[in-house]
Amino acid sequence: MKLDFHSHILPGIDDGATDLANAVELTRAMAGWGFERITCTPHINAAHSNTPDDIRQTFDNLQDKLYVEGIDIELRMSAEYRLVPETWPEVLQKNWIMPIEDKYILTELPISKPEEMGDIKPLEEFKRLLSMGLTPVLPHPERYFYMSDEDLHRFIDAGVLIQCNYGSLAGLYGKKAQNKAEKLVREGLVTFYGTDMHNLHYVKVIGDWFAQGHPIAEF
Ligand SMILES: [Fe+2]
Repeated sequence: MKLDFHSHILPGIDDGATDLANAVELTRAMAGWGFERITCTPHINAAHSNTPDDIRQTFDNLQDKLYVEGIDIELRMSAEYRLVPETWPEVLQKNWIMPIEDKYILTELPISKPEEMGDIKPLEEFKRLLSMGLTPVLPHPERYFYMSDEDLHRFIDAGVLIQCNYGSLAGLYGKKAQNKAEKLVREGLVTFYGTDMHNLHYVKVIGDWFAQGHPIAEF
């Protein structure tokens, strides 16, 4: 199964697809590359405090539109949960976890400012999720330049799985993230891959990379 584990194609609810037409354009490109299923993972963070109801509504709209447009691809609904005090405690309290493929949860950290986590300790949260029968997946660790290899291995040793961005391997976020991503892949630490699709620039860079012969990972 050619599954995209991570995307922001649901229109108008985070920093990804801007409207329905844009969402269709992004999805059409992804179907063209050969993806069979896309996991929709809009942000739930301080800037985008989406609820499952918000996500469900845009999800249904996009699914209906894809049917009308004749784009044959399966969508699944989830979220990218950031471990920040503005939203994470509410997610837990209100049981807003929508697992990916019945057991995985995409838990991201702040991209550049770890202090945004406040008192939240990621390792403790990962262990909490594991005790709930969920498998925490850390998206794009190649982009957290503040994170040491020791911290990353502490997470992995606890049972966290790693999701690497295709865009990182394609150079979308610069040389440093690319080198880090390639190292993670070489070391066999990557379980899942995702487009982290946001906009047409991603389509261009990731599309060129697939066109060079890089394959979509099988799930
Ligand atoms: Fe993302």
